[in-house]
Amino acid sequence: MRFRWVPIRSLSERHRPRLLAHLLALDDADRYFRFGHPASDEQIARYVEGIDFRHDEIFGIFNRRLELIAIAHLAYHDTDVETESEADSGRLAEFGVSVLKRYRGRGFGSRLFEHSVLHARNRGVERLMVHALTENTPMLHIARSAGAVVERAGGESDAWLKLSPDDVGSHIDELLTEHAAELDYQLKRHGRRIVDLVGSITEASAHIHRSRKGDTE
Ligand SMILES: CC(C)(COP(=O)(O)OP(=O)(O)OC[C@H]1O[C@@H](n2cnc3c(N)ncnc32)[C@H](O)[C@@H]1OP(=O)(O)O)[C@@H](O)C(=O)NCCC(=O)NCCS
Repeated sequence: MRFRWVPIRSLSERHRPRLLAHLLALDDADRYFRFGHPASDEQIARYVEGIDFRHDEIFGIFNRRLELIAIAHLAYHDTDVETESEADSGRLAEFGVSVLKRYRGRGFGSRLFEHSVLHARNRGVERLMVHALTENTPMLHIARSAGAVVERAGGESDAWLKLSPDDVGSHIDELLTEHAAELDYQLKRHGRRIVDLVGSITEASAHIHRSRKGDTE
């Protein structure tokens, strides 16, 4: 289960309402882990409204009913980050993620992290950063497992991952995963249409059956 392929789609403007619904479904504890404070509904709405899809990338995992069960925000920093060490400078992106409670522990958080690493590499990013509360063991575990170095400052931690440069393989990987995820989404959409269609036909035939029965009684 944990190693099966997970379709991850790049989201756009039209997904804003679903992004909002996903984040509003997080309880106080999850909002605290995701945003560093127990964000109110209004703060979440402002966050979603402020997402710039032309600049950043948002990835999502949909279930069969096309509910958004997991999302990741990959925020690109415009300028190179100057640090004390030359080796630590370079283009930076920041990763944020949330998975609905009942879908956790299935590898979705890790898959979104790997997917974001791939996209960031292909856009020339050299370092990926995750800001997390120190008590957020699953998030820090995901980052550490990918090779990130965690810098702890009391209750908060920053995980830093140095990315390999992009290559032909990383671009082909991105292309293939995007296409496969799009195909998966379309199949789910049509599957839903077929389910809706069968539902309406069944309802209509039951209605006809009832009215015929009424005629003959
Ligand atoms: C963090 C979060 C995204 C993880 O999502 P997920 O889909 O459950 O993550 P995964 O299933 O990919 O992996 C979780 C990993 O953490 C490990 N883990 C979970 N709880 C753990 C714990 N208490 N101690 C140690 N490891 C733990 C799991 O074993 C797994 O590791 P493995 O792949 O080596 O087995 C999810 O918990 C979440 O949405 N939290 C609320 C928002 C948040 O904290 N966002 C991160 C800050 S931006």
